[in-house]
Amino acid sequence: MSDSIIGAAVSRIDGPDKLTGRARYAGDFQPEGMVYAYGVYSTIARGRIAGIDTTLAMRSPGVIDIFHHGRFPRLHRSPGTFAEENVVDEKRTPFEDDRIHYMGQFVALVVAETYEQARAAAYKVRVDYERDAQRAAATLAQGIEDNGVDHANDSERGDPAGAYDGAVHRVDAVYTTPVETHNPMETHATVAEWVDGRLRVFDSTQGVIFTRNTLSRVFDLDPSQVEVHADFIGSGFGGKLWVWPHCVATCAAAREVGRPVQFVLPRQQMFTTVGHRPETRQHVRLGADDDGRLLSIRHETVNSSSPVGTVVEACGGSTQGLYACDNLRISHATAVTNRGTPTAMRAPGAGVGLFALESAMDELAAELGIDPLELRRRNFTAHDQGVDKPYSSNHLLECYDRAAEAFGWSRRTPEVGSMRDGDRILGWGMAACNWEAMRNPCDARVALRADGTASIHCASQDIGTGTYTILAQIASHELGLPLESIHVALGDSTFPHGPISGGSWATATLLPAVAEASRAAIKKLKGYARNAASPLAGARGDSLVYDSGRLSDDSGRSATVAEILGAQSLANAVGEAHTGGAPDSGYSFDSFGVHFVEVAWEPEIAHLEVTRVVSAIDAGAIINAKSARNQVEGAVVMGLGSALLETTEYDERNARPVNSNYAEYLVPVNADMPDLDVILLDHPDYELNEFGARGIGEIGLTGMQAAVANAVYHATGTRVRDLPIMLDKLTDDD
Ligand code: MOS
Repeated sequence: MSDSIIGAAVSRIDGPDKLTGRARYAGDFQPEGMVYAYGVYSTIARGRIAGIDTTLAMRSPGVIDIFHHGRFPRLHRSPGTFAEENVVDEKRTPFEDDRIHYMGQFVALVVAETYEQARAAAYKVRVDYERDAQRAAATLAQGIEDNGVDHANDSERGDPAGAYDGAVHRVDAVYTTPVETHNPMETHATVAEWVDGRLRVFDSTQGVIFTRNTLSRVFDLDPSQVEVHADFIGSGFGGKLWVWPHCVATCAAAREVGRPVQFVLPRQQMFTTVGHRPETRQHVRLGADDDGRLLSIRHETVNSSSPVGTVVEACGGSTQGLYACDNLRISHATAVTNRGTPTAMRAPGAGVGLFALESAMDELAAELGIDPLELRRRNFTAHDQGVDKPYSSNHLLECYDRAAEAFGWSRRTPEVGSMRDGDRILGWGMAACNWEAMRNPCDARVALRADGTASIHCASQDIGTGTYTILAQIASHELGLPLESIHVALGDSTFPHGPISGGSWATATLLPAVAEASRAAIKKLKGYARNAASPLAGARGDSLVYDSGRLSDDSGRSATVAEILGAQSLANAVGEAHTGGAPDSGYSFDSFGVHFVEVAWEPEIAHLEVTRVVSAIDAGAIINAKSARNQVEGAVVMGLGSALLETTEYDERNARPVNSNYAEYLVPVNADMPDLDVILLDHPDYELNEFGARGIGEIGLTGMQAAVANAVYHATGTRVRDLPIMLDKLTDDD
């Protein structure tokens, strides 16, 4: 068993808890005496609060208190640094001053006995505003026009401009992507209580340690005085990486009213105060020789940001090293808009950056008359020129081969509109993808227990991706115990220090720590086994062999963990581990993949459908065949949404997000699902960790929009460079 558990298609160990409702999410915790909060949100996007009148609202039934910038404790800002693990996107603390920077900004918080009472009273808070004379910038274009562009960073190698000028074949195109809003099933939620000056928080967060550290700075507490819990998270997609104002406001309100406070964000406010993927404008220029070899790449991005926090969407990050090219320029810049602060959204940077690069590659293939897949093969590189290191492991060519074979790519005819399925025009498109494989320092504790079970403790959290399960698999492998005997405890800032669940690094980070802690537990057990009361008393240390919950010595004696610990009245043998970040081994760590997409197009009735997707992903070793596939499938579906549906629409007159609900913010549903085939290569990358796993959360999204756009071009002849690919963009021409 212990050899086959890694890589096996293991069902989630937390599945039954989720199915039966035993799994508790932040909003499920109800400390004694808990009361409810509801926000009041600005109805202008730029200006100041002239006055707040809470008289009527305070008389509303059940109201306990109402907080706003005239009635709120003085808080401190978090430094917002990754190194100190206290990142915030929005530097300003809630209600800090009377300024309004974006529509939907928190201006007041009502606390009442019930949720309904808090909500009813919130609508009775009267806020008078003074609008700025200047308009609120509602879009990236308006932001650039009004506020100009702030340079963020750039990098260059060779002579990209000169090489482009000398190139026979060129592409020069601008690609744009809209604001996308995180829409996890579970909205943001915070339950905060203060007990004897200590702050205890149940929060829907992707990082309990970061949240703890941030709150400790905001409230000037020692981190040991703050406890953050996130047992289960209804996903986050990056929106729950860092602390947002609602969380801070809830903690402050709980201290002020002297009772625990719960604040669950309404769906509408998911669109204003808790981040989004910013709007991007990406200028891509490619130059190539007659054989299609890339001579020059330039990828220059401007993204929308906010007045209260600058976030750079690193669209060129993936472009640095995906293809061989000696002359390259990447740049990133931002422009201030009067929208809430953007943040990381699943596969930040590459998620929309590869839409531009991989669309441009398709345009180059058309210009050259070279098959798009062949063009990518010719520009393959096993050396990351971005950092001038070889990739630790790069099986992109095998991804191409296997996915192309499964898709039937060799049957593609290149002419636009040349492929049919009955009356429907078929379009076939493809795009490559990549995502950096990261690993961070991590602590873990593993206990072999007297009842024959084992427990794992780590502060990191399972945001819905399957972390509980893969950690149980690793411990099962190391300890030779059945999965059912492994108890995994996560999402508690008092547990050993664990990473943010983000960046697709949780797997590569957590596995080595849990494995090492498991081995340390066995070592502890061996020490105890030699004690006088033990059935193996007096055994020579190096003679003890552990196998599947049992120790044996070289004299033929053998005893179970339960017998060894039980004989000494010991509860457990505990192993602890501290493992480091990505090794400095001279390699660049990336995952790779490719998507092939078929669309069916019926111009007479303006019907476009994605009918087939084949994706091949090289993400190192696959730890759980079931949850890994599930991650890629989910990411591909998110990519389809990004390609065809997702866009947060802002009213250009007042910068208000107008489709701020599940009915009008479109995401794919079951009826949109294509026939979806995910091929996982499963080549271990032992340079990154002993299990060879690189993580798999985000890569499946990258490149998807371009694969769809390229298929749409092949079917329709229309090159859509502006996401999402709505039907009006395909039917405008005639
Ligand atoms: Mo991800 S955008 O790092 O949660």
